[in-house]
Amino acid sequence: MRVLVTGASGRLGRAVLPRLRDDGFVVRAVSRHPRQDSTVEWLTADLATGAGLTPAVAGVEAVLHLASSAARRTHEVDVLGTRRLVEAAGRAGVKHLVFVSIVGIDRVPLRYYRHKLAAEQVVTAGPVPWSILRATQFPELLEELLRNAARLGPVIGDPAVLAQPVDPVDVAARLAGMLVAGPSHAVEELGGPQVLRFDEAVRAWRAARRSRRPLLPVRIPGRLGRALRAGGLTTTATPTGTRTWADHLADTYGGTGRR
Ligand SMILES: NC(=O)c1ccc[n+]([C@@H]2O[C@H](COP(=O)([O-])OP(=O)(O)OC[C@H]3O[C@@H](n4cnc5c(N)ncnc54)[C@H](OP(=O)(O)O)[C@@H]3O)[C@@H](O)[C@H]2O)c1
Repeated sequence: MRVLVTGASGRLGRAVLPRLRDDGFVVRAVSRHPRQDSTVEWLTADLATGAGLTPAVAGVEAVLHLASSAARRTHEVDVLGTRRLVEAAGRAGVKHLVFVSIVGIDRVPLRYYRHKLAAEQVVTAGPVPWSILRATQFPELLEELLRNAARLGPVIGDPAVLAQPVDPVDVAARLAGMLVAGPSHAVEELGGPQVLRFDEAVRAWRAARRSRRPLLPVRIPGRLGRALRAGGLTTTATPTGTRTWADHLADTYGGTGRR
């Protein structure tokens, strides 16, 4: 099967490309920047303008849509860009579009999540048969958050917030299975194998890094805090991913505590 992957250069994309190649898919990937790779056909395209989308979808049976811009121009890229992609795919007769979304976007009041929900609606209302996978946070994102939370010395955070990190390798495996299964017209969820409180995640991170930084507890106020403490970012869906937060920390820091 020939598949177009958007967002192929991102965190998830870097796990998806080898998985699809190993499973025998013929992979075309798009990026805004020219790239080269002997096993993947790279094309340039920009969701924010629509440039390059028509040639990108030509001749593919399925599209795996991972691209997203959480920090800037989110409406332009995630919502309008998804519409541009879906319309181009519809005109090209693409048979299946798989969209990657996030667990809790309908429960946790964050601006980015409102855009992801709107993008899901573009996919479900569009002309191409679809499947959606909502994943929980990748461990790299949790790490980024912890690094930011520790910028002033102690790790500042709400100890009771719940997270369920899922490894991109596990997400890639599920996405490959969804491509083979064909359009489900359903929203599936995938979380990691463990639900962790923020303070537990911090303890393991500190131990892996041989760090003594204390946790400075703060309570995230309002609806956002309540949603995060109530497990708004977690799922009871099974099967879960297999790789734990501890596995990620062991791979990242080994026995040295340094990176
Ligand atoms: N990170 C998480 O914890 C997490 C958890 C659950 C679900 N997700 C979802 O998984 C997907 C992938 O996340 P990620 O963390 O791998 O993302 P990422 O590392 O931030 O990568 C974003 C990707 O989007 C592409 N992109 C950005 N703007 C674009 C534009 N205007 N036109 C075309 N491509 C554009 C980038 O490609 P170029 O720079 O090469 O153009 C890049 O490959 C997203 O849909 C995200 O919502 C993420």
